[in-house]
Amino acid sequence: MESKIERLIKDFHQAIVKVENSAQLDEVRITYLGKNAELNQVVKEMRNLDENQKRTIGQLVNETRSLMTEKINELATKFNQEKLNAQLAREKLNVTLPGKNHPFGSWHPLNLVINEIATIFEGLGFQMVNGSEVDTDLFNFQKLNLPEGHPAREMQDTFYLDEQTVLRTHSTNMTAHLLTQLSEQGGDYLAAISYGNVYRRDDDDATHSHQFMQIDGFVVGKDISFANLKWILTYLCQRLFNVDVKVRFRPSYFPFTQPSVEADIACFKCHGQGCELCKQSGWIEVLGAGLIHDEVFQANGLDPQGLSGLAFGIGVERIAMLKFGITNIRDFYENNLQFLNQFKFYGN
Ligand code: DAH
Repeated sequence: MESKIERLIKDFHQAIVKVENSAQLDEVRITYLGKNAELNQVVKEMRNLDENQKRTIGQLVNETRSLMTEKINELATKFNQEKLNAQLAREKLNVTLPGKNHPFGSWHPLNLVINEIATIFEGLGFQMVNGSEVDTDLFNFQKLNLPEGHPAREMQDTFYLDEQTVLRTHSTNMTAHLLTQLSEQGGDYLAAISYGNVYRRDDDDATHSHQFMQIDGFVVGKDISFANLKWILTYLCQRLFNVDVKVRFRPSYFPFTQPSVEADIACFKCHGQGCELCKQSGWIEVLGAGLIHDEVFQANGLDPQGLSGLAFGIGVERIAMLKFGITNIRDFYENNLQFLNQFKFYGN
């Protein structure tokens, strides 16, 4: 039996030196260590031996098995490593190459403010309309109780395309268009906001520009009151700034509203103490508003007897400057990516 084992070891060595790949290695493994391997035959024959011989042969069998297993595993590891090296050489992956960059676009801060305000008013049932920036003197001024020669036109000097055509000075021109439409349709209720660019000879400082954006809104109906106006504007300020914001209404003058007010919020920087932002007053002006003037109803073909309305005008840049702490209005128009990228994921 010992000689049989010796021969087996010899055969194994002869076989293993010829192995060139893992398929051949598998064959050797099956032949020498598999179920039908000769070594197993030897184990079976050990039955007939006496105790002493059993121990000697048993030990020899175990040693032979470990020797074969060790050699086979050694080769298996070698083949795996070679396979891996070949694969690495084939798939040259350069992990130091920079990845593909897909830059995100983003909303402009002015659009962010418009979207936010539009969402608030849509929630209140307002329609959203976008109007023409080129309009007639009639709709921009006359139908809003700003007849030719009216002193309030002074503050809204603009670009004239011809004697009767202007770049609109406010988005309130859409109120005139929509009221005229309402009268033509015989309607008695409408709530709408409009937004867009407006133009004025007004660029004296860092907070004014000859072109800027406004959102104008109004509600016309049977019993629209000043209380409705106060509620809507307070709600707007709470949504835009914060729930606890203090809002005050100050008497003012606009030709198309009577009474007219300006709405202020308590300065959120100094909480009313007085600082640079609120020009030491403790209050920040946010928008203009009022109840629609009877003259405006009439000028647009509506009967002021049966109707009442509230209206308001919001400067988009002004709100954006307050919300985002921007001090120069020109930052909005220069398309400097360092500026614009700051608003990338705002609100998301
Ligand atoms: N159009 C005004 C302006 O440009 C703002 C304004 C004030 C609009 C009161 C309104 C309003 O609709 O009711 O200064």
